Amino acid sequence: MRISIVGTGYVGLVSGVCLASVGHDVICIDKREDIVNKINSSVSPIYEPKLEEMLNVVIKEKKLSASADISWAMKNSEITIIAVGTPYKDGAIDLSYIKECAREIGVELAAKNEYHVICVKSTVVPGTTDTVVRAVIEEASNKKAGSFGLAMNPEFLREGCAVDDFILPDRIVIGAYDERSFEAMASLYEIFDAPIIKTNLRTAEMIKYTSNAFLANLISFANDISNICESIGGIDAMDVFSGLILDKRIAVSVEGKTIYPGLTQYLKPGCGFGGSCFPKDVKALMSHSINHFYYPKTLDAILSINELQPKKMIEKLEGLIGEIRGKKIAVLGVAFKPDTDDIREASAIKIIKILLEKGAKVFACDPKALANTAKEIENEMLFLSEDYRDALSDAEGALLVTSWQSFMDIKPSEFIQLMKTPAVVDGRRVYDRKVMLEAGLQYTGIGIKYQ
Ligand code: UDX
Repeated sequence: MRISIVGTGYVGLVSGVCLASVGHDVICIDKREDIVNKINSSVSPIYEPKLEEMLNVVIKEKKLSASADISWAMKNSEITIIAVGTPYKDGAIDLSYIKECAREIGVELAAKNEYHVICVKSTVVPGTTDTVVRAVIEEASNKKAGSFGLAMNPEFLREGCAVDDFILPDRIVIGAYDERSFEAMASLYEIFDAPIIKTNLRTAEMIKYTSNAFLANLISFANDISNICESIGGIDAMDVFSGLILDKRIAVSVEGKTIYPGLTQYLKPGCGFGGSCFPKDVKALMSHSINHFYYPKTLDAILSINELQPKKMIEKLEGLIGEIRGKKIAVLGVAFKPDTDDIREASAIKIIKILLEKGAKVFACDPKALANTAKEIENEMLFLSEDYRDALSDAEGALLVTSWQSFMDIKPSEFIQLMKTPAVVDGRRVYDRKVMLEAGLQYTGIGIKYQ
């Protein structure tokens, strides 16, 4: 099929490259000429494993091209996917990019005789596609939905493995305005081996929010329990979760081997979730719910627990080394999770800001996210390095914030050798507590309180 995709961020570009790689003809649309040029020269404007190699192939095979001309792109496609940003702004989801994009699509639709499907892939609060998007397109095109197709097809792409998540989906959710729109979207995904969930437009939107709220809830639940363990003292929350997840309704035993479902990774104490989705989506769903006269107590708790966790890292550091002012502190990891350069809502950014306020000399280290960090925080007391040895050298405290493999591989002896005061606070519980203590380090982490 011939597809055009508006927006070349994580969602738009990954979707475009993957759909092209399974045989569709894709045009990626972006207003920014520099981004269009990059894509057409096989350079990915974002870092995502496997993406650039695949982009290279689909550009060579002429299955994908980028353009700033939405009119040309729509004339040369049957489906247009909207994948523009939906940030959280002033207490609610900001639909301005969606509206602008829907208007431009509507204008082009007016000039097109053939049937065309418009599909929203951006995360939008339930009701948006069927009300806001539909109304804007109908007004701009002077056509009624039905004469054009309308669908909502949420993405479930994790950064760092977005390509694999797209190619091997666990489910494909298609919310459709009518049968014809659904059929067009279903043929787009014909080649994928995954169940297709057919719903109305707003249910598809709600499935996306529920999925993210559920996962964020697991993290905040784990942190709530972990904070209870710390308040009582003498309980390591990691042991508690090891005991929990063996429940046969969670882990399953197959031929004597215990298999842990992926969601158990979210049931772990830590310094909080971040990224482009969880924080913004939980907040947007919460304010949308309040607008509909229901106060979502669980969502409120998810967010307030998550606010607390970065601050706990600082308290724990102070517990180990006392006053922070004037001391060199290493922050291992800035990206909101490993294998990405994304620092949006990252716990590390909150932690670095508190450390700077408290007068520390902060040495932040990250394999991919330093350029973004430099753009986010400008401070003469913040130093950036890709090499963790620079950060640890002569430091009087280290905070492990992102579980990059290279940080997980640091041996206790290396901390001792490099640091002035080998004191480590583990925000992702990646180190073995016993090993660290036996090696002579001062070590603590989220979910640990023994004295
Ligand atoms: C998420 C959803 O997982 C994905 O389905 C959706 O479409 C987009 O949002 P992503 O934001 O890439 O994807 O992150 P994810 O890997 O789910 O992690 C989100 C946050 O949870 C991160 O801050 C991460 O550090 C935290 N997290 C993740 C944990 O605390 N523990 C984990 O084991 C995994």
